Amino acid sequence: MQRTLVLLKPDCVQRRLMGTVISRFEDKGLNIVAMKMLQVTPELSRAHYAEHVDKPFYPSLEAFITAAPVVAMVVEGLEVISVVRDMLGATSGLKAAAGTIRGDYSSSRQMNLVHASDSEASAQRELDLYFEPSELCDYAPVIVPYLRAGDEG
Ligand code: PPS
Repeated sequence: MQRTLVLLKPDCVQRRLMGTVISRFEDKGLNIVAMKMLQVTPELSRAHYAEHVDKPFYPSLEAFITAAPVVAMVVEGLEVISVVRDMLGATSGLKAAAGTIRGDYSSSRQMNLVHASDSEASAQRELDLYFEPSELCDYAPVIVPYLRAGDEG
């Protein structure tokens, strides 16, 4: 079982797509174990996007991510890091396949609606940036027997 950090970005909040995107994860059978709305500060943006701060597009990315609230979530499931990344599609909404979240709702590389961790290391780092351990809810969904067989994990 894995956990990943998902951010519904300011474009997702402003475009009233939060419910639509959360439903995609729920419909897939993934388990949301923490969720909160917050305003990303420039400091948090620099920590989150540490590997991009020196890139030419970073000032624009920081202005965007700090301009309106985001919703941060911890999503749990089998192989959830790659499952969620596949559900999002390619970084640019123009390149993302139809049927993916970005492919269906985004036409932008910056305003691509949702961020998700891309590896176990970045998931742990990003979870620690956005959540205290006490904010995570450990619970077993009662529908698990109808989501997968017992020997699948
Ligand atoms: S990815 O999916 O993390 O591998 O994508 P990557 O290309 O590394 O991009 C990382 C994040 O930077 C944003 N980005 C940009 N913003 C504005 N302008 C340009 N040119 C640009 N290129 C990349 C992109 O939306 C990614 O944000 P996240 O939150 O990771 O999706």
